[in-house]
Amino acid sequence: MKKFICCFLCILLIFTILGCKKAKITPAIKEYTLTKGINLSALEDNTKPNKFLDKEKTYTEIFEKGFDHIRLPVDFRNYCNSEGVISSSFYKRLDSIIRMANDNGLIVILDFHGWYNINIKNGYATLFTNIWKDIAMHYKDYPKDRLLFELINEPHTTEGGDLDANTLWNLQNSVIAEIRNIDPQRAIIVAVPDWNSPFALDNFKEYNYENLIVAIHIYEPLEFTHQGLSWAGTAHKRIDLNNQMLLSLVQQLELISKFKFLTDNKVILNEFGLNTTGYIIDEYVSEYLSCIARYTKTHNIPWTYWSYRGDFGIYDTGFLGFGSRWRQNVVEALMI
Ligand code: BGC
Repeated sequence: MKKFICCFLCILLIFTILGCKKAKITPAIKEYTLTKGINLSALEDNTKPNKFLDKEKTYTEIFEKGFDHIRLPVDFRNYCNSEGVISSSFYKRLDSIIRMANDNGLIVILDFHGWYNINIKNGYATLFTNIWKDIAMHYKDYPKDRLLFELINEPHTTEGGDLDANTLWNLQNSVIAEIRNIDPQRAIIVAVPDWNSPFALDNFKEYNYENLIVAIHIYEPLEFTHQGLSWAGTAHKRIDLNNQMLLSLVQQLELISKFKFLTDNKVILNEFGLNTTGYIIDEYVSEYLSCIARYTKTHNIPWTYWSYRGDFGIYDTGFLGFGSRWRQNVVEALMI
């Protein structure tokens, strides 16, 4: 009998251990609260590696580092037909990415990235609108607190194309109306003109839209944050961080908190960052980022760091996959 009880207890123990290992702890998502996030730059540019998006580890680690959301930049033009209908194979992948991020405690911002200057006069507003209608239909029953839409990234409204501040605003308004017809409660992120510039916030004062969030980007000063990057035209110019630069950075951040206070609108600083590949010394990287982290914490401004990988990466992918690691100085500076 003793033998039998022993055996039974052993089997019970083994099953309990196996059961514990299998049971996945799904972190609870707070009622649509965005505080700290990362841009998962990949699908906005066909030349960028994107397989990491399909790995659960990506999201587990991001959550464990203390982030609560990701922004997923996608150039939907690469995945739709001429009517703006997105392919089912792409939706299959997107659904799985969003689900994986959500299951690991991360809210997802779906950002239509890359179409900076929509040629309104040539009828492209219709394509843009159709794409958003298609996305809205696809996700209309998806939980509202886990998926947000961001209409357009860094619209180039001051460069002589036919998308100026007014046409941009009309376009965003009409797309919002179309999305609301399909999915009335989805939170939508709108862009301020001129590459999401904080200086363009002035023209937004009169608006107060329910369930909208206003997106701002700051890379001030550009010569400092983008130094060492040939694509940014600052390749051979090393620039030190000084107090004047930090002051002008804070002045731009102040434009956000002023806007937030005056209009009572929700805001998000959903792009900022700097070259983290070693061109800028660690001390400056930390000082620059913790200045933003401190300010946004004090003024309750949610943010999304640009970016997970690449020139501004918080995560160093190493060489051919060897030596990959989180850049601890970037993590520590942001997570104050
Ligand atoms: C662009 C990226 C760029 C980043 C910083 C983003 O909006 O899409 O290509 O690296 O801004 O300049």
